Amino acid sequence: MEFSNFSKQFNSGSGILRLMDDLGQAEHSEQPVSMLGGGNPATIEAMEQTFRREMERLMSDGRKFEQMLGNYDSPQGDLPFRELLAELLTSQFNWEVSAKNIAITNGSQSAFGVLFNLFSGEFADGTHKHILLPMTPEYIGYADVGLSDKPIFKSIKPRIERLDDLHFKYRVDFDEIDCGDDIGAICVSRPTNPTGNVITDNELERLRSLAADKEIPLIIDGAYGLPFPGIIFNQATPVWDNNIVLCLSLSKLGLPGVRAGIIVAAPELIELVTGANAIFTLAPGRFGPSLISEITRSGELLSLSQKVVKPYYQERSHKAITLIKKEMPDLPVRVHVSEGAIFLWLWFEGMPISSEELYQRLKARGVLVIAGEHFFPGLIENDWRHTKECIRVSYAAKEQDVADGIAIIAEEVRSAYQHVANSDAGTAETIDRIAS
Ligand SMILES: Cc1ncc(COP(=O)(O)O)c(C=O)c1O
Repeated sequence: MEFSNFSKQFNSGSGILRLMDDLGQAEHSEQPVSMLGGGNPATIEAMEQTFRREMERLMSDGRKFEQMLGNYDSPQGDLPFRELLAELLTSQFNWEVSAKNIAITNGSQSAFGVLFNLFSGEFADGTHKHILLPMTPEYIGYADVGLSDKPIFKSIKPRIERLDDLHFKYRVDFDEIDCGDDIGAICVSRPTNPTGNVITDNELERLRSLAADKEIPLIIDGAYGLPFPGIIFNQATPVWDNNIVLCLSLSKLGLPGVRAGIIVAAPELIELVTGANAIFTLAPGRFGPSLISEITRSGELLSLSQKVVKPYYQERSHKAITLIKKEMPDLPVRVHVSEGAIFLWLWFEGMPISSEELYQRLKARGVLVIAGEHFFPGLIENDWRHTKECIRVSYAAKEQDVADGIAIIAEEVRSAYQHVANSDAGTAETIDRIAS
């Protein structure tokens, strides 16, 4: 078969394809696999019970169930649901939103495909614009969505703050941000996948004014964030205004299978997203909005996020860090301070092998993580060694899998450092020297 240039987009060895492939294969593997790689949410019993209860409610409520299955939705997404959500956001946060500010998409991943291509690439005046990622590492799923022949990202290295012997934190390096006329939008995930960083209210405010000054939108990817599923462990304020494009998702509440994303934005953008929905998919799926309509009406959506989902992940994060301390006391490991999301971002400074090589070695031992180098879209051509010294480890898997996985990661990293140490001087000091 002969394919157009369009096909290059899908056979490029994309990181997100491999991640999702690993995830699917792990589910059906006959060998035991510690799946610490994918973005699957954890099994949280209280959430599962809520969704079962809501499903039963749908099934016993007249013809609601049949309507959900038997009718296409409108391309903007279910109107009653959008109204309920707008009421919730207005009453809780004073945001001036109505159903016109909301569109549903088939997962928020597909929303990024549309948004990034709306704000980057070739413009009518002949300019080529980019999406500014003010702080990489950033979400692997952004990397390959651009349909332009030219790169669509301009990405900024973070400042690295070493907090104590174990932790570090990335900060937005505002001195390095050059937001010129070639920037069509700014985008940041909050919390950030892969690092668990939550950019501070102050950093967000600065990005918000930068975007407003330049009259370009600020896209906030809240797939793990505010107001739901609320997987943020420190203080952070949910923000929205007419210049902010807030992307939310039902996935990390525990519903990745229903593929439902939500965009809250200015009506003119929502109209374009609606057009894209109609053209590419006819309509978004009805299942997600139908299933969570009642908990949106009652506000339980927000209370479950704060009282169930957030504390669950906070405890799991704590346990995973305790395991790292136990398994890696001799290794030059640093963990990005865990402020949200469902991952730990481990930095092995001076690691003698690349994170991709480590990924391969771990995979051979049945442990799936993600190599750090895929999380620097727009910085790929850069030779910053740090990008190859990090891995992303999910702590949402079963506790035993996380424990087994972390123990094996420790063994493999130790062996990588020792191999060099042995062929060099064979001492523990060599490990220290490589790391420093
Ligand atoms: C930061 C971030 N944004 C967006 C998505 C897309 O999620 P979904 O398409 O399931 O809504 C993910 C998925 O893991 C993510 O981690």
